Amino acid sequence: MPQHCITASQFDRKSLLELFSQARAMEKIIAQGASDLAKGKILATLFYEPSTRTRLSFETAMLRLGGSIISETDVNFSSQTKGEVLSDTARIVGGYSDIIAIRSKTPGDAQIVADYSGVPVINGGDGSAEHPTQGLLDVYTISKHFELGQKPLTVSFVGELVCARTVHSCSKLLRNFDHIKFNFVAPEALQIPDEYFDPSKDQKYFDLNDEVLETSDVIYDTRIQQERISPELYEKYKTAFHFDVPTVSKMKPEAILMHPLPRVNEIAQEVDALPQAQYFEQAQNGVPIRMALIARGLGLI
Ligand code: NCD
Repeated sequence: MPQHCITASQFDRKSLLELFSQARAMEKIIAQGASDLAKGKILATLFYEPSTRTRLSFETAMLRLGGSIISETDVNFSSQTKGEVLSDTARIVGGYSDIIAIRSKTPGDAQIVADYSGVPVINGGDGSAEHPTQGLLDVYTISKHFELGQKPLTVSFVGELVCARTVHSCSKLLRNFDHIKFNFVAPEALQIPDEYFDPSKDQKYFDLNDEVLETSDVIYDTRIQQERISPELYEKYKTAFHFDVPTVSKMKPEAILMHPLPRVNEIAQEVDALPQAQYFEQAQNGVPIRMALIARGLGLI
């Protein structure tokens, strides 16, 4: 039975802690350069939506494991443009490769590829639904700063939350740990969908106020996703949230500011020098996490 990674719901506290320990072992491999753990194995990356970090970190991960990659990066050059259904593409690519990472516009696509390819499949983002590997690297990043589940932690998600698949997956994963208070900060039209909101424990805010800034341990900012919301909503809210140096200086000194990237204009570049800015470290954590996921998927660890 292939070990897929399709949704954050697959993970419980135990499997998360196990994955993080495997990721720490992968960091040692990265420090050495590479390994031959996945020698002779092929990762296929099917990326039908724009990507820099996710695809390249999957490919880096496979190369560091000693494996090889084949890649389809533009749906316009794919047989899907000729009308091929995804289940056929999945069967074919599954025959060429040992593991597949897929990103697509449509929720549920990763599951279709998992159903038809016959090889382990990792979801690199399916439309506005989920992005479990980003969620995993996000929680891994948080775990490097705070002891999850041990002490009270306030995590505030800020920006566009309705289609933000990274927030959907990250918040689901964090619910495996006790003592976390969730704030969701967005205008009503861009607020978190009900399935990710627990009205008995969580709080919604409609603007970024000092209370959120001063009490959060983690602020997870997101881009307003122009490609997924209406032009009217985008125009109205494209500059709604902005983190500049005075704003971030209101955060606790040990608090962290995260962002899945790419940022557009929601975090000023001057913020990068502040100790709270952790988004570049966060992106780097994608490599060990994806190495661990590939190695697990292939049954190598
Ligand atoms: C995110 C995505 O694609 O959902 N980026 C990423 O994978 N790091 C967030 C975004 O595009 O805004």
